[in-house]
Amino acid sequence: LPIRLRDYAPPPWRVVQAELDFELGIDASEVGARLHLARDPAQDAPLRLDGEELELLAIALDGAPLPAGRWRYADGVLEVDGARDGSVLETRVRVRPAENTALEGLYLSGSREAGFLLTQCEAEGFRRITFFPDRPDVLARFTVTLRADRARFPVLLAGGNPDGAGELPGGRHWARFVDPHPKPSYLFALVAGRLEKIERDYRTADGRAVKLAIWSEADAIGRCRYALGALERAMRWDEETYGRNYDLDVFHVVATHDFNMGAMENKGLNIFNAKYLLADPDTTTDDEYRAVEAVVAHEYFHNWSGNRVTCRDWFQLSLKEGLTVFREQQFSARMNSPALKRIEDVALLRRAQFPEDAGPLAHPVRPAEYREINNFYTATVYEKGAELVRMLAGRLGEAGFRRGMDLYFARHDGRAATLEDFLAALGEANGLDLSPYLAWYAQAGTPRLTARGRHDAAARTYTLTLAQHTPPTPGQPDKRPLPIPVKLALFDRAGRMLPLRLDGQTSAASTERVVVLAQAEQDFVFRGVDAPPVPSLLRGFSAPVILECDYAPEELALLLAHDPDGFNRWEAGQQLALRAYAALRDGGGEAAVEGWCAALAALFDDAALDPALLADLLTPPGEIELAEREREVDPARIHALRQELQRRLAAALGGERLERHHRKLAADAGAQPDAAAQARRRLKRRVLELLALHDPAAALPLAQRQYESAAGMTDRLAALAVLVRHEAPQALNALAAFRARHAQDPLALDKWFAVQAQIPGEPALARVRALEADPAFTLKNPNRVRALLGSYASGNPSGFHRADGAGYRLLAERLAQLDALNPQVAARLATAFNGWQRLEPVRREQARQALAALAGHGALSRNLAEIVGHLLPA
Ligand code: ARG
Ligand code: ZN
Repeated sequence: LPIRLRDYAPPPWRVVQAELDFELGIDASEVGARLHLARDPAQDAPLRLDGEELELLAIALDGAPLPAGRWRYADGVLEVDGARDGSVLETRVRVRPAENTALEGLYLSGSREAGFLLTQCEAEGFRRITFFPDRPDVLARFTVTLRADRARFPVLLAGGNPDGAGELPGGRHWARFVDPHPKPSYLFALVAGRLEKIERDYRTADGRAVKLAIWSEADAIGRCRYALGALERAMRWDEETYGRNYDLDVFHVVATHDFNMGAMENKGLNIFNAKYLLADPDTTTDDEYRAVEAVVAHEYFHNWSGNRVTCRDWFQLSLKEGLTVFREQQFSARMNSPALKRIEDVALLRRAQFPEDAGPLAHPVRPAEYREINNFYTATVYEKGAELVRMLAGRLGEAGFRRGMDLYFARHDGRAATLEDFLAALGEANGLDLSPYLAWYAQAGTPRLTARGRHDAAARTYTLTLAQHTPPTPGQPDKRPLPIPVKLALFDRAGRMLPLRLDGQTSAASTERVVVLAQAEQDFVFRGVDAPPVPSLLRGFSAPVILECDYAPEELALLLAHDPDGFNRWEAGQQLALRAYAALRDGGGEAAVEGWCAALAALFDDAALDPALLADLLTPPGEIELAEREREVDPARIHALRQELQRRLAAALGGERLERHHRKLAADAGAQPDAAAQARRRLKRRVLELLALHDPAAALPLAQRQYESAAGMTDRLAALAVLVRHEAPQALNALAAFRARHAQDPLALDKWFAVQAQIPGEPALARVRALEADPAFTLKNPNRVRALLGSYASGNPSGFHRADGAGYRLLAERLAQLDALNPQVAARLATAFNGWQRLEPVRREQARQALAALAGHGALSRNLAEIVGHLLPA
């Protein structure tokens, strides 16, 4: 049965203090727990603790062993008789880390001989470690003692401050950690094994001396420097921007190659997928550098938005995730280019979240029900959730948002909160009622915003009519209007912004302002407008909606040329590209294609333009985004048309001009990750890709040369991708060289798998099959699974969506196998089937059959069963 938001009840029993004792071993670890209990006097419920796959060795209440009749353990629940307010429950359990392939709870990373032990508890992994009320509204003080063989586990870490360590007989040792801050069980963590560290002393703005340490296995410790710098930048930024200081004497960050997700914000002991922590120019691309900085910051920011103030229940997940993604976006914008960051984030939203909102997996930012919470760590909860916080922050302005955040942190510090609490604090601090925005959290689906403008020459007015409509989603047939903030400017035909005088407005005119569409349809009248203006709407993507506005092509060209809002400038180019694409698809004449190409050709040699922005302007919307706009999707056709569109652009720019540009950019072939060098590499890649479509005979030797001379991973991988995707004769050698060069590095090897899984069209499937037989492939490592099967199924539409259905059958078979090992990763991978109902009939039927076969498989995990159940409703 699903768990429902409306059924929430406070915990009848709390744990105020938890003393944990670990005897660590690879095959078996023993966990002793002393839980100091508090009973809610208003409730009369038996003591029930969560526990999964635990072998109970001993149990005692208030110092006395409990006889068998006084407790029951079944279906993941331990029920204990006779507990009172203030009772102490002691349990001792055995768990088996080496057999734990779900990578949830206590598990082994790496080999039995060389690997290390670690934990992952969010959302409900702590119950695989010991019996506990494993819910985020139970906040306890944790004291953790670790014991282990010193030679095998020289490093012992847990969350909180260190509180002693020493030797034990028989070559064993111990270490104790005390966390003074009450926390929910999902933030518990420990790490034990052979690890190296780099350290730095940090002093917080409020004067605390903190030891920062980043830990990894020995071979990777040289690649931790960048993350340490990023951590320090994030800490300073949070002090300066939100007045938030770190609150323990140590801050540990640990890298692992075996991780279900990106990273985890465990109190004082963050644990990272190595992909988001390790960085050096030889193995890390520029995009990955930025991801490392962003994820390090994200996890650090959770210390306040998530840890000090946590979530009452998992329905509130976006309270910490949406807010923390938003804080990370602000930080990254500050550290890098704000316009590029916004473009990157909106592109991600459109590629990952809009399809979620438009298909059978659609759910509100605050879901109303779930079966398996791990399935709700989604783009909707994270990315759309961040957009909602951005709207609120925009509504309040910088100072107002800070006031609201201060109140939120002060009021809820040390407690578990709800989204209502968040909106109330933001509102109260500013004398505003923000509750209308709650509707955004409850309603799934992406609103369509339509805009029409009418100029009245006699009255010198411009009337902007905004209207909204949200299509139905599963379980929500009827939608209400939402408050949609539309940031806008008006341009005259020379590309100058006009002062805005809104009807009824008294304040001084500015050239940009925000109007809020609160109803289904509203008019906004601007006065003193002499000639029909060109509106720049939804600037900076001020709300997560799909804007429909019937611009004339020359109006979009004007915005592309003149809009100082970097995001909207790019967006105008995207709109032109979409029209060019539609013209190619529908045989709708040459004008749209030529118009798009000419507009970009005019910008191509503009020295004032950021090369990274130019690279993004030269990139039309991706295949997934294009598919979202079709009623019936044929991924092969979309791929072919998009290639053709790019070929036309390349032809318009001209082979010689592209080659010259590539040569110029190749001249400075360093590998430093600074923004200017990153921007040039980004453009270099785009130019090479375009040239390869236009004139492979010229481009492929260039790509080979770039591969051989590349100073770092960005240029090397870009060149390799071009060779591989074009099935160039040089590709085989380059792949072999790449493999040999990076044989010892799992993260680089993942790229080797991924680049081949993304070969477009027909050849992809055979390649994926062959790679599955590679000795380096394993279903047990999530990064490797994502690199091969994820890149194929979710990152290669024309390769995966085969008319013969073989891609679907391959995925369905692997899902069943993977599910038996790691349900979380299997369920995530299965979302590649999202959108199958909108495929053209032949593929649709193939997908349906593959899904039906999977659904009939019998023993699916709750994770995968929930996803398949949504994809294939009964
Ligand atoms: N809280 C982590 C983060 O976003 C992610 C945890 C994901 N957990 C999960 N069960 N999928 O920083
Ligand atoms: Zn997070």
